[in-house]
Amino acid sequence: MHTWLRCPTRLVALSITSATLIATTAATQDRVRVASPDGRNQVTVEIHDGGLYYSLNRDTHPLFLPSRLGMAFRNAKPLLDSLRITDTARSTHDEKLRVSVVETASPGRRFTVAFRVFDDGVGFRYEFPEQPGLGEFAITDELTEFTLEDDARAWWIPSNRPRLDRSEMLFSASPVSVLDSVQTPLTLETRDGRTFIVIHEANLVDYARMFLAGPRMQSRTLRVALAPYAEGTKVYGRTPFVTPWRTIQLADRATDLAPSVLGLNLNPPSVIPNTSWIKPMKYVGIWWGMHIGTMTWSSGPKHGATTANTKRYIDFAAANGLGGVLVEGWNVGWDGDWIQNRNAFSFTKPYPDYDLPELARYAHQKGVKLIVHNETSGGLENYERQMDSAFTLYHSLGLDAIKSGYVTDLVGEGHSHYGQYMVRHHRRVIEKAAQYGIMLDVHEPIHDTGERRTYPNMMSREGARGQEYNAWSAEGGNPPEHETILFFTRMLDGPMDFTPGIFDILIERGTGRPRRPDESRPRTTLAKQLALYVVLYSPLQMAADLPENYEHQPAFQFIRDVAVDWDTTRVLAGKIGDYVIVARRERNGPSWFVGAITDEEGRTFDIPLSFLSPGRKYVAEIYGDGPGANWLTNPLPVAISKRPVDSRSRLHVVLAPGGGQAIRIRPAP
Ligand code: NOJ
Ligand code: CA
Repeated sequence: MHTWLRCPTRLVALSITSATLIATTAATQDRVRVASPDGRNQVTVEIHDGGLYYSLNRDTHPLFLPSRLGMAFRNAKPLLDSLRITDTARSTHDEKLRVSVVETASPGRRFTVAFRVFDDGVGFRYEFPEQPGLGEFAITDELTEFTLEDDARAWWIPSNRPRLDRSEMLFSASPVSVLDSVQTPLTLETRDGRTFIVIHEANLVDYARMFLAGPRMQSRTLRVALAPYAEGTKVYGRTPFVTPWRTIQLADRATDLAPSVLGLNLNPPSVIPNTSWIKPMKYVGIWWGMHIGTMTWSSGPKHGATTANTKRYIDFAAANGLGGVLVEGWNVGWDGDWIQNRNAFSFTKPYPDYDLPELARYAHQKGVKLIVHNETSGGLENYERQMDSAFTLYHSLGLDAIKSGYVTDLVGEGHSHYGQYMVRHHRRVIEKAAQYGIMLDVHEPIHDTGERRTYPNMMSREGARGQEYNAWSAEGGNPPEHETILFFTRMLDGPMDFTPGIFDILIERGTGRPRRPDESRPRTTLAKQLALYVVLYSPLQMAADLPENYEHQPAFQFIRDVAVDWDTTRVLAGKIGDYVIVARRERNGPSWFVGAITDEEGRTFDIPLSFLSPGRKYVAEIYGDGPGANWLTNPLPVAISKRPVDSRSRLHVVLAPGGGQAIRIRPAP
C-alpha cells in the first residue's frame, strides 16, 4: 500500500504495511515533517539553537510560525534549552509523528512530543517516560506557544477574572495581537477569511485546564497558562506521564467547524460496556421559577421543590412526552447563604415537604425520570464524602440522572476552579457516576475536552453564559448575537445545557407586569427560542419555562416534536456573531430539523433542501417570526405554517431582528 506524504516542496511516497510506527534513523536529523492524510496540513518540528519548535502550514500558507515547546518544573531547570532530537517515528496510516528529545546538559532529561495530523486539524502532547532525572515533579508552567502568522480575529472570553471564574461571560472579538488572557476553545479567523482556527485541548484527565495568555501588543504569540493550585503550582505528577493534547482545528469556512470531532478522536473509546441506559431526553424543571423569583430553593412559603408541585411537573412532562423532571432545592442545605454554607448540603436528606421515594415511584409510574440536583457550591470534600451513599440512594430509587453545580470561585483551600485539584474531582465523579449507572449534566464545569467519548454518561454541561442570565443579569440579559457566537466557539467543545425554550419572553409572571427593555429578559423572539433546540446541541435538553407558560401555546408543539440527538448535521449558512442555520437529522429516524437564528439584524435566506432524501415526500412544519416581530418591542408573534417539500424545494426563511425560525421536516404520511 502506498501513502503519499505531501511536503510543501515535494511529494514523498512511502511504502507501509501497517499502522505501526516506523522509527527512522534520525539521530542527526533536527527537522522533521508530517502531513495530514489529504496533505493539506503540514507540521514541521525542528531544533533551533537548542530549542524545540513546531510550525503548521495549510496548503502552502504558514498558519503557525515556529512556536516553542517546553515545560518548567519546581526545583529544576526548565526543560526548554539545549535539546537534541534523538529519535523520530511516524506512521503514515493516520499521520502520527513522535519526536523524542533529550537535554544535552545534565541531568539529561528526556521527553517525546507526539503529533497527530488530521484533515481537520492537529493535536500534540508531551510524554515523559520514566527516567532517573525525572520522577516526581511539580510543573510550574507549561511553555507551549502558539505563534500565529496572521493577526487573526479572535472570539474570546477572558480567563483572568479573580471572581466569576466560570466561563459565563459575554464574548468579544479582537485581533490576536491585543489579546490579554483568554479561554479555549478560542476561535480565530485569518484576516483574508481563508482559514478558521480553533485552539483547544483534548483528554484532560490529570492536569490543569489550559488558558491562553495573550501577547498584549507584543507579538502574535499565545502562551499556555495553566489554572493553578492555591500555592501556585500548576500540576503534580510522576513519570511516566502524558499531558492533555493541545489541539488546533482548521477549516476553510466557519460553517465547516461544526460538528467538531478532533477532540473526540483524541480520547480513548468508551469504557462503559453497556450503554443502553444512557438515554438523551428533554426535560422540564423546578428551576426557572427560582431564577425569576416566583419560587425559592430554600424552605418556606415559596419553596419550589414540594411533593405537590413536583407531581404537577411530572404530570406535565408525561402529558407532553418530555422524558425528565429536574427538581432543584429538594435537599437540605439551601437555607441561608448557600454559596458560603457549602458544607451544609446534604445529598440524601430531602426537605420535609419533599417526599423523595414517593416522587420516584410516581415519576416511574408515569414513565418520567426524576433528575436529581446536586449543587455543591464547590464544597468538594463535602460532596465526595457523601457520593457513595447518595448515589446508592438514587440508584435504589431508579434515579439515573444528576444535574450538578459548582457555584464558587475557588475550591478547597483556595485552588482555581479549573486547576488539577478540580479536574481530579470531576474525573472521580464521572467514574463513580458510571459505576452507579448515572448520567451527568454539570454546571460551572471545566470545559469539555472530549471525555464523553470515554464516558458517554457525561451527557452535557454548562460552561458558558446560558439562559439563566436572561432572568437576572445586570446587563439586561444576553445580547441577540450571543448564541450566534456560541455556536462557533463554546459549542465546538461539546454539548451545552443552555436551557432554551422561554416563551414568557417579557417575564410577566411573578412580577405581574412585563419587564422593561432595560430589565433582564431573553433578548430574542419566541421563534428564536425554538430554533435554539436545533442550533445548540445537548442530549439533555430543557424546556426551561414554567409549564403554565406553555399551556395554550401552539408553538409548544415544536418542543414536543424536536429530537434531542442527531446522526447528521449540516451547517447551511453562518457567520460568527451574525447568524447560523443548521439542519440536523434525528438519530434513528427519518425527520430533519432546521434551526435558523440571527443577531439584532433581520435577515432573509433562500435555503435549498437538497439534504433531504431524493424522491421522498416530506412535510415542513415551519415556526417563524410572526408579522412585526422583533426581539426588543414585539418578541411574541409566531407564525406557524405547513407545506409539502422534497429535496428539490427551497425555503424562503425570514428572520426578524433578534429572531429565528424552527422547522420540522417529516416524511409525508
Ligand atoms: C447555577 C446553575 O447554572 C443553575 O442552573 C442552578 O439553578 C443554580 N446554579 C443553583 O444550583
Ligand atoms: Ca451557571
